[in-house]
Amino acid sequence: MNVDSLTYAGNPDNLSTVHARFAGSRFFFERGDICDRLHIESIFKTYEIDTVVHFAAESHVDRSILAPEAFVRTNVLGTFVLLDVARCSWKGRDDVLFHHVSTDEVFGSLGNSGKFLETAPYNPRSPYSASKASSDHLAKAYDYTYGLPITLSNCSNNYGPYQFPEKFIPLMILNMLEGKPLPVYGDGKNIRDWLYVGDHNAAVWLIMQKSKSGECYNIGGENECENISVLNKLIEIVAERSRKKVPELRSLISYVRDRPGHDRRYAINCDKIKNRLGWRQSVSFDEGLQATVDWYLANPAWIARVRSGEYLKWIDANYGARS
Ligand code: TYD
Repeated sequence: MNVDSLTYAGNPDNLSTVHARFAGSRFFFERGDICDRLHIESIFKTYEIDTVVHFAAESHVDRSILAPEAFVRTNVLGTFVLLDVARCSWKGRDDVLFHHVSTDEVFGSLGNSGKFLETAPYNPRSPYSASKASSDHLAKAYDYTYGLPITLSNCSNNYGPYQFPEKFIPLMILNMLEGKPLPVYGDGKNIRDWLYVGDHNAAVWLIMQKSKSGECYNIGGENECENISVLNKLIEIVAERSRKKVPELRSLISYVRDRPGHDRRYAINCDKIKNRLGWRQSVSFDEGLQATVDWYLANPAWIARVRSGEYLKWIDANYGARS
């Protein structure tokens, strides 16, 4: 049962293969807002929900700086509604699970060394990370206070197919293909730890199957890389796979004004999920980047639709306008 409010980054095209194979038998979709309590309650009843995997969130830091309200609404209030409907529907059952998906950004920014453990103090610094930190605290509070069976994961930066081209990696690939400038914030030396989306999903699935409730896990790619190095890797791959030349692509790099409060470095220690649950990353950073570039090259129709914004009109026509 997939509930999605299909705002600007939610795209039914991303699930067309699942729809085609399983719609009406093993897959159901409803357009819905997690802040809409009545709708969430009716979904819990109709589909006899016993497990929630809560991926729904506003997730883009730049947007949270420009317009923070949607972040507080969806990430804080929406998480509260989901938790509270689960609590009221499940009434003390222990054969149920609420998995909350979160981010390493709740721990704040690191200097040149060190990594965050699951026990690191929270120190969010953007409206986005503050809203996610708040949702983590609510999830933990529902475990401590009401005994709601909760698991929680904090992941590093995801990348891979289907990612909306506002995030660094798809934005850079698409801008290269379109010959547009490649905006690098500040000195380009901020560090992120890149996690392939398939590895992230496998980790979440493993936690849901194997973990006892009340546990938190860090999920990282163990691929720390400066933004400018990521961009140079992407330039090499795009040049190799298209008619574009490396110097032509490099000339598109444009250093721009830094993001306000730009966190310098994120890195998490993910030994807990490796040691306790046996999870491993399956894709190296180079393989993952190549697969990602190949996916965007192979899907021009998806890109054209996402870039045009046309799919938003199509969503309203097919799924009903948002309440
Ligand atoms: P982003 O994909 O927005 O993820 P997050 O801010 O959650 O880490 O950005 C990844 C890094 O890339 C971050 O250090 C900001 C930087 N960045 C740019 O330099 N230029 C851009 O156009 C974007 C979107 C991000």
